[in-house]
Amino acid sequence: MAKHVCPPWVGYLLLCPLRKLLENPDKILGQFVREGMVVLEPGCGMGYFTLPLARMVGPEGRVVAVDIQGRMLSVVRRSARKAGLLDRIDLRRIETEGLGLEDLSGRVDFAAALHLVHEVPDQARFFIEIWNSLKPGGKLLVMEPRGHVSLDRFEQTVATAEKAGFKQEVLPRKIRDRCVLLVKPGNGV
Ligand SMILES: C[S@@+](CC[C@H](N)C(=O)[O-])C[C@H]1O[C@@H](n2cnc3c(N)ncnc32)[C@H](O)[C@@H]1O
Repeated sequence: MAKHVCPPWVGYLLLCPLRKLLENPDKILGQFVREGMVVLEPGCGMGYFTLPLARMVGPEGRVVAVDIQGRMLSVVRRSARKAGLLDRIDLRRIETEGLGLEDLSGRVDFAAALHLVHEVPDQARFFIEIWNSLKPGGKLLVMEPRGHVSLDRFEQTVATAEKAGFKQEVLPRKIRDRCVLLVKPGNGV
Protein backbone atom coordinates (compact mmCIF):
# COMPACT_ATOMS: atom_id res chain seq x y z
CA MET A 1 0.00 0.00 0.00
CA ALA A 2 1.18 3.54 -0.67
CA LYS A 3 2.02 5.69 2.35
CA HIS A 4 -0.40 8.34 1.17
CA VAL A 5 -3.63 7.89 -0.74
CA CYS A 6 -5.83 10.85 -1.59
CA PRO A 7 -8.81 10.76 0.81
CA PRO A 8 -12.36 11.20 -0.54
CA TRP A 9 -12.71 14.70 0.91
CA VAL A 10 -9.78 15.82 -1.25
CA GLY A 11 -11.47 14.03 -4.15
CA TYR A 12 -14.40 16.44 -3.76
CA LEU A 13 -12.05 19.45 -3.63
CA LEU A 14 -10.44 18.29 -6.87
CA LEU A 15 -13.81 18.71 -8.59
CA CYS A 16 -13.82 22.44 -7.87
CA PRO A 17 -14.71 24.33 -11.10
CA LEU A 18 -11.97 26.91 -10.32
CA ARG A 19 -9.41 24.18 -10.98
CA LYS A 20 -10.08 24.80 -14.67
CA LEU A 21 -8.13 28.04 -14.43
CA LEU A 22 -4.97 26.07 -13.70
CA GLU A 23 -5.75 22.69 -15.20
CA ASN A 24 -8.19 22.86 -18.07
CA PRO A 25 -8.92 19.25 -19.15
CA ASP A 26 -9.74 20.26 -22.73
CA LYS A 27 -6.50 22.22 -23.13
CA ILE A 28 -4.35 19.57 -21.46
CA LEU A 29 -5.86 16.44 -22.99
CA GLY A 30 -7.50 17.73 -26.17
CA GLN A 31 -4.13 17.78 -27.91
CA PHE A 32 -3.82 13.97 -27.59
CA VAL A 33 -7.32 12.50 -27.64
CA ARG A 34 -9.41 11.88 -30.75
CA GLU A 35 -12.84 10.41 -31.38
CA GLY A 36 -12.95 6.64 -31.29
CA MET A 37 -9.84 6.23 -29.11
CA VAL A 38 -9.46 3.88 -26.17
CA VAL A 39 -8.16 5.99 -23.30
CA LEU A 40 -6.92 4.66 -19.98
CA GLU A 41 -7.08 6.82 -16.88
CA PRO A 42 -5.59 5.15 -13.82
CA GLY A 43 -6.28 7.00 -10.56
CA CYS A 44 -9.34 8.76 -11.97
CA GLY A 45 -10.48 10.00 -8.54
CA MET A 46 -13.93 11.57 -8.75
CA GLY A 47 -13.69 12.12 -12.48
CA TYR A 48 -12.44 15.67 -12.97
CA PHE A 49 -10.66 14.51 -16.15
CA THR A 50 -12.83 11.44 -16.85
CA LEU A 51 -15.96 13.19 -18.11
CA PRO A 52 -14.07 15.54 -20.47
CA LEU A 53 -12.16 12.50 -21.76
CA ALA A 54 -15.46 10.69 -22.38
CA ARG A 55 -16.68 13.66 -24.42
CA MET A 56 -13.45 13.70 -26.44
CA VAL A 57 -13.54 9.99 -27.37
CA GLY A 58 -17.14 10.31 -28.59
CA PRO A 59 -19.77 7.56 -28.79
CA GLU A 60 -17.42 5.11 -30.55
CA GLY A 61 -14.58 5.53 -28.07
CA ARG A 62 -14.05 4.31 -24.53
CA VAL A 63 -12.46 5.59 -21.34
CA VAL A 64 -11.24 2.97 -18.90
CA ALA A 65 -11.16 4.72 -15.54
CA VAL A 66 -9.47 2.84 -12.73
CA ASP A 67 -9.19 3.58 -9.03
CA ILE A 68 -8.55 1.76 -5.78
CA GLN A 69 -11.36 3.58 -3.94
CA GLY A 70 -14.97 2.64 -4.54
CA ARG A 71 -16.13 6.00 -3.17
CA MET A 72 -14.26 7.83 -5.96
CA LEU A 73 -15.76 5.57 -8.61
CA SER A 74 -19.31 5.94 -7.32
CA VAL A 75 -19.07 9.73 -7.74
CA VAL A 76 -17.79 9.27 -11.32
CA ARG A 77 -20.62 6.81 -12.02
CA ARG A 78 -23.26 9.23 -10.74
CA SER A 79 -21.98 12.26 -12.66
CA ALA A 80 -21.34 10.25 -15.86
CA ARG A 81 -24.89 8.88 -15.75
CA LYS A 82 -26.27 12.39 -15.26
CA ALA A 83 -24.20 13.67 -18.22
CA GLY A 84 -25.30 10.76 -20.46
CA LEU A 85 -21.70 9.53 -20.77
CA LEU A 86 -21.77 6.36 -18.70
CA ASP A 87 -21.90 4.04 -21.72
CA ARG A 88 -18.46 5.29 -22.86
CA ILE A 89 -16.80 4.82 -19.47
CA ASP A 90 -15.59 1.50 -18.14
CA LEU A 91 -15.19 2.02 -14.37
CA ARG A 92 -12.92 -0.42 -12.62
CA ARG A 93 -12.05 -0.80 -8.99
CA ILE A 94 -8.67 -2.36 -8.30
CA GLU A 95 -8.87 -4.78 -5.44
CA THR A 96 -5.61 -6.65 -5.85
CA GLU A 97 -2.00 -5.74 -6.54
CA GLY A 98 -1.45 -4.07 -9.90
CA LEU A 99 -3.91 -2.45 -12.26
CA GLY A 100 -5.56 -5.61 -13.61
CA LEU A 101 -5.42 -4.49 -17.24
CA GLU A 102 -4.61 -7.83 -18.87
CA ASP A 103 -7.71 -7.65 -21.10
CA LEU A 104 -6.48 -4.32 -22.53
CA SER A 105 -3.12 -5.61 -23.66
CA GLY A 106 -1.95 -3.57 -26.70
CA ARG A 107 -5.38 -1.88 -27.09
CA VAL A 108 -4.96 1.53 -25.46
CA ASP A 109 -4.27 4.60 -27.64
CA PHE A 110 -3.59 7.06 -24.88
CA ALA A 111 -3.17 6.91 -21.10
CA ALA A 112 -3.27 9.76 -18.60
CA ALA A 113 -1.87 9.40 -15.07
CA LEU A 114 -2.82 12.71 -13.51
CA HIS A 115 -1.82 13.46 -9.92
CA LEU A 116 -1.50 9.73 -9.35
CA VAL A 117 2.00 8.30 -9.67
CA HIS A 118 3.32 9.67 -6.33
CA GLU A 119 0.63 7.55 -4.63
CA VAL A 120 1.62 4.33 -6.39
CA PRO A 121 3.81 2.10 -4.17
CA ASP A 122 5.45 0.14 -6.98
CA GLN A 123 6.09 2.57 -9.83
CA ALA A 124 8.22 0.11 -11.82
CA ARG A 125 5.33 -2.33 -11.98
CA PHE A 126 2.89 0.50 -12.73
CA PHE A 127 4.80 1.67 -15.80
CA ILE A 128 5.24 -1.87 -17.10
CA GLU A 129 1.49 -2.46 -16.83
CA ILE A 130 0.68 0.78 -18.66
CA TRP A 131 3.29 -0.09 -21.30
CA ASN A 132 1.66 -3.49 -21.87
CA SER A 133 -1.79 -1.93 -22.24
CA LEU A 134 -0.66 0.60 -24.88
CA LYS A 135 -0.58 0.06 -28.62
CA PRO A 136 2.82 0.58 -30.27
CA GLY A 137 3.07 4.34 -30.71
CA GLY A 138 0.62 4.88 -27.83
CA LYS A 139 1.28 7.74 -25.43
CA LEU A 140 1.19 8.26 -21.69
CA LEU A 141 0.87 11.68 -20.11
CA VAL A 142 2.13 11.88 -16.52
CA MET A 143 1.36 14.97 -14.51
CA GLU A 144 2.29 15.29 -10.85
CA PRO A 145 1.41 17.94 -8.25
CA ARG A 146 4.22 20.39 -7.48
CA GLY A 147 3.18 20.58 -3.83
CA HIS A 148 3.72 16.86 -3.18
CA VAL A 149 6.45 15.95 -5.65
CA SER A 150 9.92 17.50 -5.68
CA LEU A 151 11.76 17.90 -8.96
CA ASP A 152 14.18 15.13 -7.90
CA ARG A 153 11.36 12.75 -7.17
CA PHE A 154 9.69 13.59 -10.46
CA GLU A 155 12.92 12.88 -12.32
CA GLN A 156 13.15 9.50 -10.56
CA THR A 157 9.61 8.74 -11.72
CA VAL A 158 10.52 9.61 -15.32
CA ALA A 159 13.66 7.43 -15.05
CA THR A 160 11.50 4.53 -13.83
CA ALA A 161 9.19 5.00 -16.83
CA GLU A 162 12.19 5.01 -19.17
CA LYS A 163 13.42 1.74 -17.63
CA ALA A 164 10.07 0.23 -18.61
CA GLY A 165 10.85 1.22 -22.22
CA PHE A 166 9.11 4.59 -22.56
CA LYS A 167 10.77 7.42 -24.47
CA GLN A 168 10.18 11.05 -23.65
CA GLU A 169 8.51 13.13 -26.30
CA VAL A 170 8.36 16.91 -26.56
CA LEU A 171 4.96 18.19 -25.49
CA PRO A 172 3.22 19.81 -28.46
CA ARG A 173 2.22 22.59 -26.11
CA LYS A 174 3.86 23.21 -22.74
CA ILE A 175 1.45 22.26 -19.98
CA ARG A 176 3.56 23.01 -16.92
CA ASP A 177 6.42 21.50 -14.94
CA ARG A 178 6.11 18.02 -13.35
CA CYS A 179 4.51 16.94 -16.58
CA VAL A 180 5.95 14.54 -19.14
CA LEU A 181 4.72 12.95 -22.35
CA LEU A 182 5.97 9.40 -22.82
CA VAL A 183 5.65 7.18 -25.85
CA LYS A 184 5.80 3.46 -26.37
CA PRO A 185 7.96 3.29 -29.48
CA GLY A 186 6.59 1.48 -32.51
CA ASN A 187 4.60 2.27 -35.65
CA GLY A 188 7.45 4.46 -36.91
CA VAL A 189 7.71 6.40 -33.62
C1 LIG B 1 -4.85 12.87 -6.00
S1 LIG B 1 -6.14 11.86 -6.61
C2 LIG B 1 -6.22 12.45 -8.30
C3 LIG B 1 -7.53 12.15 -8.95
C4 LIG B 1 -7.66 12.63 -10.40
N1 LIG B 1 -6.67 12.04 -11.27
C5 LIG B 1 -7.60 14.12 -10.48
O1 LIG B 1 -6.56 14.67 -10.89
O2 LIG B 1 -8.58 14.76 -10.09
C6 LIG B 1 -5.34 10.28 -6.82
C7 LIG B 1 -6.30 9.14 -7.09
O3 LIG B 1 -5.54 7.96 -7.39
C8 LIG B 1 -6.11 6.85 -6.71
N2 LIG B 1 -5.03 5.88 -6.51
C9 LIG B 1 -4.06 5.86 -5.56
N3 LIG B 1 -3.25 4.80 -5.73
C10 LIG B 1 -3.72 4.15 -6.82
C11 LIG B 1 -3.29 2.97 -7.52
N4 LIG B 1 -2.24 2.26 -7.12
N5 LIG B 1 -3.99 2.61 -8.62
C12 LIG B 1 -5.07 3.32 -9.03
N6 LIG B 1 -5.52 4.42 -8.41
C13 LIG B 1 -4.86 4.82 -7.32
C14 LIG B 1 -6.66 7.44 -5.42
O4 LIG B 1 -7.66 6.61 -4.88
C15 LIG B 1 -7.19 8.78 -5.91
O5 LIG B 1 -8.51 8.67 -6.35
